[in-house]
Amino acid sequence: MDTVLNLRSDTVTKPTDEMYRAMAAAELGDDVSRDDPTINRLEELAAEKIGKEAALFVASGTMGNLCAIVTHTHPRESLLCESQSHTYEHEVGGAAALGGLLCRTIRGERGFMAPEAIRQEIHDPEDVHVAPATLLSIENTHNAAGGVCLSAEQMKTMADTAHAHGLKVHTDGARIFNSAVAQGVPAADLVAESDSVMFCLSKGLSSPVGSLLAGPADFVKEARRVRKLVGGGMRQAGILAACGIVSLTKMVDRLAEDHANARLLAEGLAELPGIELDLDTVQTNLVFFRPPGDPDDFLQRCAEVGVLGVRFPNGQVRLSLQRHIAAADVKEALRRIGGIWPDS
Ligand SMILES: Cc1ncc(COP(=O)(O)O)c(C=O)c1O
Repeated sequence: MDTVLNLRSDTVTKPTDEMYRAMAAAELGDDVSRDDPTINRLEELAAEKIGKEAALFVASGTMGNLCAIVTHTHPRESLLCESQSHTYEHEVGGAAALGGLLCRTIRGERGFMAPEAIRQEIHDPEDVHVAPATLLSIENTHNAAGGVCLSAEQMKTMADTAHAHGLKVHTDGARIFNSAVAQGVPAADLVAESDSVMFCLSKGLSSPVGSLLAGPADFVKEARRVRKLVGGGMRQAGILAACGIVSLTKMVDRLAEDHANARLLAEGLAELPGIELDLDTVQTNLVFFRPPGDPDDFLQRCAEVGVLGVRFPNGQVRLSLQRHIAAADVKEALRRIGGIWPDS
C-alpha cells in the first residue's frame, strides 16, 4: 500500500530533530525534590506563557485535569462540565472514581455553556440533599464540538457566572494554543478568568510526552501533592521537559499550517456526496463529519486505502491534522477517500 496517512490524532506527532538534540543535552535531577533544572525551566516558561503564577509538569492531559479537579474540590461535591467534554467522556470517570465527585453535565453550544444553563446546575448548597457544585470545567478548543474556539469573551462569561456562585473554574486547554493561534490572541487572554488551566505539549506541539497544569502558586503547590498521590512524581523527566521547552518556543506559531490544512481537507470532504460537514466548525486542526451509513464501515474502507481516522461517541468521524501531514498529503487523502466514495 502507499504511505499510510495517519489522521487519527495530533498525538501521533513525533519529536522534532531539535527536540532529540535538546533531550541529549538536557541537565537532569530528581524532580520529586525539585532538583531537575530543565523541568523547573519548563514550568517557569509555561507559567509565563499562559499568564499564571506557577505551573506543574504532568505526564498527560488526563493527569493534569485530574490533579486540578481533585485540588479544587472535596468528595461529595459536584463538578459541572460540558456534556461532550473530554473530562466527562474520555477520562475514565476519574473525577468520580478518584475525586468522589458527582459530575453534572451542561449541554453547550459549540462548547459554550450559557449562563442560564450553568445556573440551572447550581443548586442551593444549604439544601441537605445536594452535592454542592464547587467547580466548573471549560474546554477550549472544544474537541467533540469540532475543535472549535471559545473567545476570551465567552470564557469570561462562563467564568463570571461560576465565580458569582462561589465556584472555581478550570480550563481543559489541551489545545489552547490552537485556539489562541486561530483567534490571533495570546493564550493567556483566553484563560485570564480561569483559576487553573491544563494544556498539552504532546499534541500539535509535537513533544513525545507531557502537559502543564498552571494556576496560583498555592494551588500548584497542592496539585503537586495530588500528582504524587496518583503516581505522577517523576524523577529525571527533564529529558521530556527539554522537548516541552522546544514546543513552547518553536512549535506554537506553526499550528496555523495545521489549521489551513484542516480547512483544505474539510472543503474537499464537503464536496463528496452524502458527507454532512459543517464548515463553520472547522476552526483549528480537527475535522468532524458524518458519513452516510455506518461510521465504522466508512473508517474501515478509509483504512483499506491508507487513511486513518477515529469515530467519536456522537457518531461522527474525526480527522486530525498535524505537522507530519502536509497540504500535498491532504490532497492525496481526498483523492483516496473520493475513490472509495460512495460505492466504487
Ligand atoms: C480536550 C482534551 N482534553 C484532555 C485530553 C487528555 O490528554 P492526554 O491524552 O494527554 O491524557 C485530550 C486528549 O486527546 C483532549 O482532547
